[in-house]
Amino acid sequence: MNQFTHYETLSVAGRDMRQNYQTLISCVVPRPIAFVTTLSPTGVVNLAPFSFFNGVSGHPPAVMFAPANDRHGREKDTLANLRQIGEFVVNIVPHAIADAMNETSFTYPRDVSELVVCGFTSLSSTQVRPPRVAESPVQLECRLMQIVDLGSGPLAGHVCIGEVLCFHIAAGFLTPDGAVDPAKLDAIARMGGDWYATTRDRFSMPRPTGPKSSNCGGSAIESSPQVPHRP
Ligand SMILES: Cc1cc2nc3c(=O)[nH]c(=O)nc-3n(C[C@H](O)[C@H](O)[C@H](O)COP(=O)(O)O)c2cc1C
Repeated sequence: MNQFTHYETLSVAGRDMRQNYQTLISCVVPRPIAFVTTLSPTGVVNLAPFSFFNGVSGHPPAVMFAPANDRHGREKDTLANLRQIGEFVVNIVPHAIADAMNETSFTYPRDVSELVVCGFTSLSSTQVRPPRVAESPVQLECRLMQIVDLGSGPLAGHVCIGEVLCFHIAAGFLTPDGAVDPAKLDAIARMGGDWYATTRDRFSMPRPTGPKSSNCGGSAIESSPQVPHRP
């Protein structure tokens, strides 16, 4: 296999924090986007995209996303809402709403609803108070389990972990094996800088059903049962 022979090694200490951030988000790609609705104690619906986002547990089904402080060290409205009302909805972002999703990332005052200003349609949730976004074909209603604060200064992240209470999947999007059809979903993902990726170019690769004989040799592995294991 091809090997790279020269590397630039960038030690985080001594580098500007914004440079480290740019390097990080261009290394960890593509990142899925959680389009998150939360509710303020006064009833304002907040809507914002977060690409520090992933699924992190199968049972209970759980997701995480991470609002980072702004460059002055201020916490985002989404995080402030979650600290008070520990419920949120993750709306998945199809390519069709990319522009409008991006509009919601502008820093609006806390009493302004990005959902209303940016022209989205609110749909009542069934198990949590924040509403869903009707323009999204897949929505996950979540109850906050834990917030892990990774710091308190500028750009410090706060990992918000939530248990998924229910999935809403648009009619016709579910396949017989319980998965969402990726072609119909047409989700977008975030790259470094201002770049995005679509999920339109895909390939299938079944998981191995046993160890690779040439590299993983050793009698212990070879004598263990060849049981396919997921994940
Ligand atoms: C595609 C996309 C992904 C983003 N991901 C994040 C993220 O993971 N963490 C974060 O703090 N901000 C992220 N942002 C910026 C926030 O959406 C932005 O700061 C927003 O105004 C926060 O809203 P709020 O203060 O209402 O919570 C992202 C913006 C875009 C457009």
